[in-house]
Amino acid sequence: MSLRITRTSSPQPLPPADQLGFGQYFTDHLFFADFANGSWTSGEIIPYQNFQLDPAASVLHYGQALFEGMKAFKHPNHEMYLFRPKFNAERMQKGAERLSMQAPPTDLFIEGIRELLKVDARWMPEGVGKSIYIRPTLIGTEGFLGVRPSNHFRFFVILSPVGQYYSNSSKAVKIFIEEEDLRAAPGGLGNTKAAANYAASLRAALKAKHHGYAQVLWLDTSRRFVEEVGTMNIFFRVGDEVWTPRLNGSILEGGTRACVIQLLKSYGVIVHERDVALADLQQAYENRQLKEAFGTGTAAVITPIEEISSQKIAWKFTEPSENSISQKLFKDISSIQHGLSPDRFSWLMKV
Ligand code: COI
Repeated sequence: MSLRITRTSSPQPLPPADQLGFGQYFTDHLFFADFANGSWTSGEIIPYQNFQLDPAASVLHYGQALFEGMKAFKHPNHEMYLFRPKFNAERMQKGAERLSMQAPPTDLFIEGIRELLKVDARWMPEGVGKSIYIRPTLIGTEGFLGVRPSNHFRFFVILSPVGQYYSNSSKAVKIFIEEEDLRAAPGGLGNTKAAANYAASLRAALKAKHHGYAQVLWLDTSRRFVEEVGTMNIFFRVGDEVWTPRLNGSILEGGTRACVIQLLKSYGVIVHERDVALADLQQAYENRQLKEAFGTGTAAVITPIEEISSQKIAWKFTEPSENSISQKLFKDISSIQHGLSPDRFSWLMKV
């Protein structure tokens, strides 16, 4: 791939590795490629900088914007590995189809990310739990005002060295059930990583935060079934089996969700991808069968949940221990990602 690289003349100091948090620091460069007249440019790496955008660009008026979340990890042999990049390239392509956008082909998506990681390799933080978070983004850039799809797109990638997503130092999070706002509805954008889904989630997330909760649990349009957490897919351990909402079209098809299902099946755990009714969970809670709840996501990895509440519901979970499924999954997935145990499902790609 003939990719132009312009290196920065003023590299930034690296942030303190123990204070990375999530998405606060950006590396020295970014990758971008443009689509116009039916084809993609071969892409360019430039110093991290503002873009110039037509004020009539379709992303600003009609919300043609999609993103992905991915991570790269440093292994003990000092090589960098990407986690399931093809999955993200293909999910962006599916989302682009739904939003009438042109997605970058898989080769451009992956090679742009790999080259950018090589240029900014010095930003890779050391240690388990730390990684470079990758944010590939696609926006409509053509300027016009009639409502129609853009004919011009920009695909760009920025990198952020990260630690854990939830700033709360105790590892489990509290979740509030949102019963008024809706994140998504069947036939809508809920199963895509459209920026609009996140805009729709912000009001409820703020309200939950105000009451001491890390995130909200979204319900379906009937307000009877659990969907997802917005930054994570959700799993419940009921007895010795695991339930997670099935992909019904309004839930994000999470990459970590798929890995967790694969891992659980490899442990011999029965996983039910099903409609998960609040009433069924309440009954399981009353029968002391609702043993664990946890979220999964690229940013959140596996995050145990300590409490799920609403006006009517108050489920409390015991602290995760050695016997918790969430802990086992976290250890397993992190050690594969960091190259500390064999990549038995072929999830990794060398940068
Ligand atoms: C991710 O986990 O990568 C996400 O996109 C969730 C959130 C940070 C927006």
